[in-house]
Parts: sequence; structure tokens; C-alpha cells
Amino acid sequence: MQKFLIVGGNRLKGTIRASGSKNATLPVLAACILNGSKNIIHEVPILKDVAVMKDVLTYLGARVVCEGSTFIVDSADVQPVEISEDLMRRMRASNLVLGSMLGRFGRVKISYPGGCQIGSRPMNLHFKGMQAMGAVIKERYGYIAARAEKLTGADIHLDLPSVGATENLMMAAVLARGNTTIRNAAKEPEMVDLQNFLNKMGARVKGAGTDTIKIEGVRPSDLHAAEHTVIPDRIEAGTHLVAAAITGGEVTLTNVIPEHMEPLLAKMREAGVDIITGDDYVRVQGAGQIRAVDIKTMPYPGFPTDMQPQMMALLSLAEGTSIITETVFENRFKHVGELRRMGADIKVEGQSAIVEGVERLSGAYLEASDLRAGAALVIAALAAENGTILENVTHIDRGYERLETKYNALGARIVRVHD
Ligand code: UD1
Repeated sequence: MQKFLIVGGNRLKGTIRASGSKNATLPVLAACILNGSKNIIHEVPILKDVAVMKDVLTYLGARVVCEGSTFIVDSADVQPVEISEDLMRRMRASNLVLGSMLGRFGRVKISYPGGCQIGSRPMNLHFKGMQAMGAVIKERYGYIAARAEKLTGADIHLDLPSVGATENLMMAAVLARGNTTIRNAAKEPEMVDLQNFLNKMGARVKGAGTDTIKIEGVRPSDLHAAEHTVIPDRIEAGTHLVAAAITGGEVTLTNVIPEHMEPLLAKMREAGVDIITGDDYVRVQGAGQIRAVDIKTMPYPGFPTDMQPQMMALLSLAEGTSIITETVFENRFKHVGELRRMGADIKVEGQSAIVEGVERLSGAYLEASDLRAGAALVIAALAAENGTILENVTHIDRGYERLETKYNALGARIVRVHD
């Protein structure tokens, strides 16, 4: 167990460079399976979740060489072996190999990735789409086996715009016979990044970023090696902006695509944070008294569920009452109890949290329940009076590269302690 000791009350000042996007990297690495070639991926963030995906690819037979933030993934020797429960349990997103394995080999068997702290997270939409393409899916004894003699392009209408289902189906459709259309597809920037990577390897995908994605199936011999640079992490960058704002700091974030962050930036501005944007940077230049705002999480371009906990930390110090409604995951208020320990006044009623702003937060003994909840507690602790002990920070390492090092360089005081 590792923990953070955080002394609050320091204004963050300086410049941070955002890393490559975790949620874009994971499907791009999974997509490397499709071409059986040597792919070069730049701007890979060095995170626990990425290490798990590397282990999954290696287990399947890929050769993965890491040179800093560049990964060289050679999938020539990948085989359709069964992926063990142990590996699958380490990260839910390892289910992203389902689409590319099924697409290349016509069969795949993985253990069920299981539930998760923030909700039950079923995979019915992934399965329905693959079945429409002719796959037979069997779920037994905690395993999922998918088989298809030859996947055939299909017209798929997703019941809801699931990020993971859209990605898995895009990958499955690349080598299918004929054309696939995915309607009500997720529109997140990560879909566009995956489309770009797939097209670089010879796939024919268009429409990502809109709610209709069209994939024209190609032959395995049409695919070839590809080189790609992953887009910046809009959630990591957003987390740093909120951290800067809660301390009344002045922080410039470089290597960002401000347009991807608009849903967050609009809410931060409404809350009174002074933000300016350039082509590839965003700067928070202080915040006066934070004002209450209402937030409803929605699929992109709505407000991202992955920024909800961090914004709740900020709004717990706002003037007035904010209502935060979580519509994407059913169990994503685990941070509320911990923020209340710090003196926040928050009540949960069904899908909504009612946040009455308080004048100050006070450090406490806390535990991170999941990745973004953990980030929210770091943010709250940066603004709190007294010190905070935050347990279980390995959750935070899943999605942030050495968060404490980045914040300490900006003037924070955070120490990582190993038990
Ligand atoms: C991805 C992101 C995660 C983010 C989430 C929503 C990655 C690795 N993770 O997760 O950080 O919080 O998008 O933006 O990119 N659902 C179903 N059936 C399905 C699939 C999903 O009912 O077959 C439901 C889920 O339970 C959830 C909602 O759809 O309520 C959204 O889930 P989804 O978009 O699939 O999220 P992930 O891809 O798991």
C-alpha cells in the first residue's frame, strides 16, 4: 500500500506538459494486433493501465519494446490463446482486445473483466454488435468466448454510445467481409484517434467523431505497419486545471488540444475560473471566489464523467449550491463520503449530489476508492487546511504519471510513502 501525505494551502504556479491520452492509448495498442506487423506508437503515457495492456499483448505473443514514451509493438507472432483471469482482472479495458483478436483470428477467449468500483459495466453492447457481424458469443464460468468463421459487415445501432463497444466494433469490422455501419456511436476524441491509427495501417474507416462510423472491410494483406502519435490526455489535463483553480494558482498546460476540453472549460469559466486558451495550451490564471454551477455528466461532447469527482472537489468550496448529476455510471459518488470527512457539505439524492459550498476544507485521513475519485481527493487536499493522508494511491497511478512529482514542481507539498 502506498499513500500520499499532502500539506495543503500552496498555490500551484508554473507549466506542466500533459501526457498522451490513456484512453486513446489502450485501444490503439489493442488495434496493433490486427496487422501482424511492427507498429510504432509515440506519446504513450507510462501508467499502470498501459503496463497491463503491454502484459496482455506480450501474453498473446506480441513483442513490445518500450523506449521512453515510444512503444514498438510487433504483433507478427500473436496467437489466439486464452487470456487468463489474472491478467483480465487487472484492468477492465483489457477487454479491448476482443474486437481485434476476433477480427484477425475469428476467435478469442478471455475471462470476464468483471464489475468495477464505479458501476456494473456490462458488455452486452459489445456482444450484440459482434453477433450482428456473425460472431457466436458464449459466456460461461466467467469466460467469454467469441467465434466467427468470417465476420461479415453489418448495420449496428448501439442502444447507447458506449466508448468501449464503439472501439471494439470498429476494430472487429476492419477485416470483416463488406461494410459495417455503427450508429449512435461514441463521439469522444479517442474514437477519432483510433480511426486515424487504423487508417494508417490500411483500414478504411470514416465518420469517427460523429455518431455514425462506417468501416469498409479490407483483406489482411491490405494492412501494413503503422506509426502513430497518441493525442494528449484531456482528462489528465483537466485534472491539473482544476487543481490549479482550487489553489487560486497560475498554471499553463502544454501539449493539449483545447477543443477536446471545451465541455470542462465552459463549466470552469461559469464557475469563475479565469482561463485562456491557445493553439496547444490552456492557462488557468487564478480564480476569485468559485461560484456554484450545475453539472450533468453526458457522453462527449457533454461534460465528462471522468471529470465529475474533480469538479465536485472544486465546487465544495464554491459560493452557493451546485447540483451534480451523474448519468453515465450508477455508482460514481464514492468520493462524497471522503470529501465530507474534510468538511464538505454534500448530500446524495439518487443520481444527484447536492453540494453546498463551504468556506474551508480541512485535511483528513482518506482513502482513494478509484482513479478519478483519488484525483479529486488530491485536489481537495491541495486546498485544505492542515495535512491529509491519502491511502491507496495506486489507483491514481493507473491514470496519472507521478502526479505528486508534477504537482511538487508547481509548488505543492506531497510525499509518497511506501508501507
Ligand atoms: C470508457 C473510459 C472511461 C470513461 C467511460 C465513459 C476507457 C479505457 N475508459 O469506459 O474512462 O469513464 O468510457 O466516458 O476508455 N454500457 C452498457 N453496455 C455495454 C457497454 C457499456 O450498458 O455493453 C454502459 C456502462 O455500464 C456505462 C455506460 O454504458 O453506464 C458508458 O460506458 P462505456 O462508454 O462503455 O465506458 P467504457 O468504455 O467502459
